[in-house]
Amino acid sequence: MSNNDDKETTIPSSGPAKGMRKALTSYGDEGFSLFLRKAFLKGAGYTDDALDRPIIGIAGAASAYNPCHGNMPELLAAVKRGIMLAGGLPMDFPTISIHESFATPTSMYLRNLMSMDVEEMIKAQPMDAIILIGGCDKTIPAQLMGAASAGIPTIQLATGAMLTGSYKGTRLGACTDCRSYWGKFRAGEMSEQEVGVVNNQLVASVGTCSVMGTASTMACLAEALGIMLPGGATPPAVTADRMRTAEQTGTRAVELAKFGEGIDKILTYKAFENAMRVLLALGGSTNGIVHLAAIAGRLGLTVDLDRLDQMGRETPVLVNLKPTGQFYMEDFHKAGGMPALLRELRPLLHLDALSVSGQNMGDIIDQYDDSYNTEVIRPFDRPIYAQGGVAVLRGNLAPGGAIIKQSAATPSLMEHEGRAVVFDGMEDLVSRLDDENLDVNADDVLVLKNIGPKGAPGMPEAGYIPIPKKLAAAGVKDMVRISDGRMSGTAFGTIVLHVTPEAALGGPLMCVRTGDRVRLSVSERIIDLLISPAELASRQAETIPTALERHGVTRGYKRLFLQTVLQADKGADFDFLVASPASSNKSI
Ligand code: FES
Repeated sequence: MSNNDDKETTIPSSGPAKGMRKALTSYGDEGFSLFLRKAFLKGAGYTDDALDRPIIGIAGAASAYNPCHGNMPELLAAVKRGIMLAGGLPMDFPTISIHESFATPTSMYLRNLMSMDVEEMIKAQPMDAIILIGGCDKTIPAQLMGAASAGIPTIQLATGAMLTGSYKGTRLGACTDCRSYWGKFRAGEMSEQEVGVVNNQLVASVGTCSVMGTASTMACLAEALGIMLPGGATPPAVTADRMRTAEQTGTRAVELAKFGEGIDKILTYKAFENAMRVLLALGGSTNGIVHLAAIAGRLGLTVDLDRLDQMGRETPVLVNLKPTGQFYMEDFHKAGGMPALLRELRPLLHLDALSVSGQNMGDIIDQYDDSYNTEVIRPFDRPIYAQGGVAVLRGNLAPGGAIIKQSAATPSLMEHEGRAVVFDGMEDLVSRLDDENLDVNADDVLVLKNIGPKGAPGMPEAGYIPIPKKLAAAGVKDMVRISDGRMSGTAFGTIVLHVTPEAALGGPLMCVRTGDRVRLSVSERIIDLLISPAELASRQAETIPTALERHGVTRGYKRLFLQTVLQADKGADFDFLVASPASSNKSI
């Protein structure tokens, strides 16, 4: 074994720093900084040969609190194998990990914090490229936001979806079925013992939710953006395909480190337009819009909701997955996954958008076959839903826009006028919704205020307001519901979300009172409060507390959050993290 005395331990006099010579600690003597850094790694048994290789950072997000990332050890081993096969040095490090069910008040409150962790650790440590491993809803967005701000060559790897379970011969998967079976239990159609059996079967393995919720949507959008290897979005978490994808990701990262493009060459205007097309064709999570806006904002790009709506009119829903359709992620994978979907969408895509694979979108599509199961990935002329999954609404109730997942709504409710039944916030909702004496009917409109970015805070997924118990027991399955919050990508119903500006900022939603009439017309893209302009202006003139006053906050992350979080149409990012407008900026 050589002690590699001939290896360079000093700083080269010219050229950009690479590998261990990058991001040196400030001791006032760069040669000493490198000398010291190498000494510590040699203490862990590394040779000079290893320390001279291209360094691939691996941002993992393993946590006992995050079973959606439960395959992280196996993925990490496969990624490292791929890196070393290609002659690189893998250096993994932990970041914040966020799971939907283990984050209070809501995972979205922590997404920006995770993105700052990812950005700063990429910038603080020496690496020539970065592999991001995430999956649960907010983790891929946070990782891409952070990496976009850090700017080095980047590849995203998803942890992959969980397998489906079974209850009395019927397939089950988190979390659309979580909601439907819980709804049956609330309505008295299932016993506690029966719902307990369902609870054992909903999550059949580690991995992300098995429907087209936010996690699956973001994995697919990462592939559509070109920041993930082709075919990387859909392999389930516990399969050999997933592990092979991990190994290939490691190998490709070394090539990127040597020759590849920075993340800004991949995440371009055209890449985001492709991703928005895919979001619509997936019938994907409404959260995907917020996350795409946040990632784009880190690159100085803006998402235009009216452009999204226009694309929605041209882009049918083709993927037949819950909650819009009937299948699960493992079926999507077996049907050909994202490449098969992209092939169907070919005429609507920017084919010259570049992928981290080194190919452009057109090359990738040409490499793959059509869908192997046209029930799961429908052909363009036989869609699940003729228009895209999401429509953008405007009106005096949402001058900054609101959205509705029309593909998961009840058709008869999409043109509806009804009496508002208003809840002032989460506490009010919890205390009154199931009260037998609540004055509410099936054709009323449930309005929930103060669950926006500043209101809750963190814009929780409480926009899926449960049907009041007495109406659920009477067989009511859906009502028009409106809020400034979000909804889980696994949820369904005639639900208007992301009302902007939010109530806590004094938006018109603040002014709605029980008994007012509200009109929803998805065909006209309108959400209106039916009161006079003078009455609306007079209600809006009322003084409301600031976000800090409302929450009684004086310090810490919550203070930073409440002072700097932007509205949903800007991705609910922090104002100081958004990049200056890109010189090439077009609204996406
Ligand atoms: Fe992690 Fe659904 S809870 S993806």
